[in-house]
Amino acid sequence: MRMYDIIKTKRDGGVLSKEQIDYFVKEYTNGMIPDYQVAALLMAVYFQGMNEAETLALTLAMAESGDCLSLSAIHGVTADKHSTGGVGDKTTLVLAPMAAVLGVKMAKMSGRGLGHTGGTIDKLESFPGFSTALSEEKFIQNVNTIGMAITGQTGNLAPADKKLYALRDVTDTVDSLPLIASSIMSKKIAAGADTIVLDVKVGSGAFMKTEEAARKLAKEMVRIGHGAGRKTAAVISEMDEPLGFAVGNALEVIEAIDTLKGNGPKDLEDLCVALGSYMLVSAGKADSLEEAADKLRGTLKDGSAYEKMIEFVTAQGGSREDVENPQRLLHATYTDTITAPKTGYIAHIQSEEVGLAAMTAGGGRETKDSVIDLSAGIVLNKKVGDFVKENEPLARLYANDKVKLEAAKNRLAGAYSFSEEPVPARPLIHGVIT
Ligand code: URA
Repeated sequence: MRMYDIIKTKRDGGVLSKEQIDYFVKEYTNGMIPDYQVAALLMAVYFQGMNEAETLALTLAMAESGDCLSLSAIHGVTADKHSTGGVGDKTTLVLAPMAAVLGVKMAKMSGRGLGHTGGTIDKLESFPGFSTALSEEKFIQNVNTIGMAITGQTGNLAPADKKLYALRDVTDTVDSLPLIASSIMSKKIAAGADTIVLDVKVGSGAFMKTEEAARKLAKEMVRIGHGAGRKTAAVISEMDEPLGFAVGNALEVIEAIDTLKGNGPKDLEDLCVALGSYMLVSAGKADSLEEAADKLRGTLKDGSAYEKMIEFVTAQGGSREDVENPQRLLHATYTDTITAPKTGYIAHIQSEEVGLAAMTAGGGRETKDSVIDLSAGIVLNKKVGDFVKENEPLARLYANDKVKLEAAKNRLAGAYSFSEEPVPARPLIHGVIT
């Protein structure tokens, strides 16, 4: 087989066979095909697309290019959840304990934040002593004993995706539906869970800016999940403004704990219930979405999800006291507020700008190797649709560097727009694909 012919077939709009896809993924991972040929193929895919069979074959070839976790030693139905990335998105920290209480085995591999979006692993590292690098044995043992574990991705999970993603990044071929869907799903499939619930974000802070694009991606990923024999559902959720009020690692942990105690923001709780309902029904822990939602809300009311969070944090090396008094996690020397420049309704809070402001304060990574300040970030006082008077506080910022705080403040102020008329609410859930 020759890479030249594979490139030519795709360039001319042809269909690649499974053998051709397996060949280039395997040989590229092994260093036998040069970057320039794969770059040419990626560009051909970018323009010509891939059909369903090709996208599934690419996903499976990437999933099988490294370690595939076997969760067969876990007793019960395992579930994983993936978000396409957002601002203030702390759903995993809330949903995982809720679902674990109800008997779903949450075996979750999570990533770090990059750019304006956060990552669960960074958030969890706000707990001193917390380990985000569990051995496979410990990961499985914790899921079996307490019903949940969250760990960072192992170095050898879908290595083909890692290489291909790096090449896409420098050849401007990231933005291709079959390449995005196969990249995300290869890692989920290699991570081994029986049930996958995808949270596909849409809006100014999301990868997918329009509902049409988000729906297409959701459909493609669900189809791949089914093709790989996994129960898969995708919820398309709002990311035109940040989720909840807190943006920044320790600040989001504090908000997640408040939510587990039943005192969290409504949008965050509702999203966790929506995602969790599909998870519970697919895992056979509820007969209907309504029953699942009632059970999930029950774990917040009776304190069982909060207790599960304590169990989970201590099992991975954190301390009970830090969950009970999460303000201890916040070590910001400087804090400041921004205020409303005029009286009116908040028409829009550009979430990408809020994420970038939190990053400017020190809470995000500009490159993979940046060191982040886990205490830096923003807590919004108001959300879209709220009425504010001139000079009323809109948000509080936290940082450990005065210059960064000032720069973040200026950036955040630019994220708001106002209206004299009441602003209609956008729906939290834009659709569900099963
Ligand atoms: N996230 C991924 O993991 N892969 C993509 O291609 C895009 C977002």
